[in-house]
Amino acid sequence: MKELEARIKEDGRVLGADILKVDSFLNHQIDPKLMQAMGAEFARLFKDQDITKVITVEASGIAPAVMAGLSLGVPVVFARKSKSRILSDDAYTADVYSYTKQRSNQIRIDKRFLSAADNVLLIDDFLANGQALLGMKALADEAGATIVGAGIVIEKSFQPGRQAAIEAGLTNIHSLAKIAAFEDGQVIFDDLD
Ligand code: G4P
Repeated sequence: MKELEARIKEDGRVLGADILKVDSFLNHQIDPKLMQAMGAEFARLFKDQDITKVITVEASGIAPAVMAGLSLGVPVVFARKSKSRILSDDAYTADVYSYTKQRSNQIRIDKRFLSAADNVLLIDDFLANGQALLGMKALADEAGATIVGAGIVIEKSFQPGRQAAIEAGLTNIHSLAKIAAFEDGQVIFDDLD
């Protein structure tokens, strides 16, 4: 998506060998117009697939997922990472290991919000090691829901996330920007599929 690539070039900052900081429009401050355009693009990429629900993981997946849900006209459920006293125990759960934070989080979705009748689209902000995507897949599998595909805002193609997702049986993965490499602090994009 040209608009997203342009924004990454303009506002993204490369940290170290493999991290792209995009907190001015995606991970901290959010650009609603860009999110809306991305939601419309996800809806175009996954049209005619009878999607009943969009699933994501808090926190940074929520903004693009909500905009995708708005464009598709379906509810959005975000898996929660923390257990609070008001969260029901009747939940699907999965463990997600974060390589960047080097710790595991349990993610959970209340059983009221996901069922075998659902056709779900998985959305996330980054595809790096694929752990978040695998966690969402585990929740959907536990519910008996059908996964129609996965929509990613920024994929780092030089990391193993896509391969891990494919090996786990996920198909129909579309990213809005694919990063092939970072060279001297510059972002090199891959062609989109
Ligand atoms: P995964 O997202 O593919 O599972 O890979 P990984 O375990 O490496 O990612 C852990 C966290 O770091 C995820 O966020 C992911 O979105 C984020 N991340 C991975 N690579 C980058 C990057 O290059 N730039 C930025 N900004 N984030 C990256 P999270 O822990 O779920 O955080 P949040 O959603 O609460 O913000």
